[in-house]
Amino acid sequence: MSNEQIKGGLSHEKIETSNFLMIVLILITVSFGGLVEIVPLFFQKSTTEPIRGLEPYTAVQLAGRDVYIREGCYNCHSQMIRPFHAETLRYGHYSVAGEFVYDHPFQWGSKRTGPDLQRVGGRYSDDWHRIHLNNPRDLVPESIMPAYPWLEKNLVDAEAMPSHMKALRTVGVPYTDAQIASATEDVKGKTEMDALIAYLQVLGTHLK
Ligand code: HEC
Repeated sequence: MSNEQIKGGLSHEKIETSNFLMIVLILITVSFGGLVEIVPLFFQKSTTEPIRGLEPYTAVQLAGRDVYIREGCYNCHSQMIRPFHAETLRYGHYSVAGEFVYDHPFQWGSKRTGPDLQRVGGRYSDDWHRIHLNNPRDLVPESIMPAYPWLEKNLVDAEAMPSHMKALRTVGVPYTDAQIASATEDVKGKTEMDALIAYLQVLGTHLK
């Protein structure tokens, strides 16, 4: 490269020989690229609007979701069926963004030590889940899933549900005053096992 070119303006050599300039320009380029990919998603209906028929979790299902998160079920189970033939054959319709608008936070994940659970709702009976969660080996002898026998013994914290639902309402989950008012009564006396099963049984069932 001739000296004259270097003198005039920001030549490549100037950029490539200055760590500082190189870092700053890379950051600008990468952030611009990232924004171009991410920002449109905030305005696309298909990613921000609930699918038709999507209902917020009932108080019992919501309590079950909390158990699911507390017990770390997501460490082995994803809730996101990819749009590939092998996946849809095994699990059912692929997941769409509008199914998760009321999930804070959503439980997508990519770790599949166990099967994806996005369409597990309605696949087994409540009794099946009860036995399976108490000891998976009773139903699936080769299973490596942990047993969760304490869920049957713990009661759901009923008093906590109204404030929990109010908090979700502030981030856009359309709970009515009536739903919030009856939440404590709705979950009273339910075990964590009941709640978790109610949650599992509704998973993925809103997409028609
Ligand atoms: C260490 C990994 C691991 C953890 C943690 C785990 N699972 Fe599993 N899960 C598995 C494996 C492996 C299977 C497949 C064998 C079986 O059915 O037991 C499975 C199967 C299942 C199934 C049956 C799915 C189907 O389509 O047949 C359900 C439902 C389930 N797990 C729910 C849960 C819930 C709820 C939790 C949290 C309380 C949980 N799992 C925690 C590994 C795990």
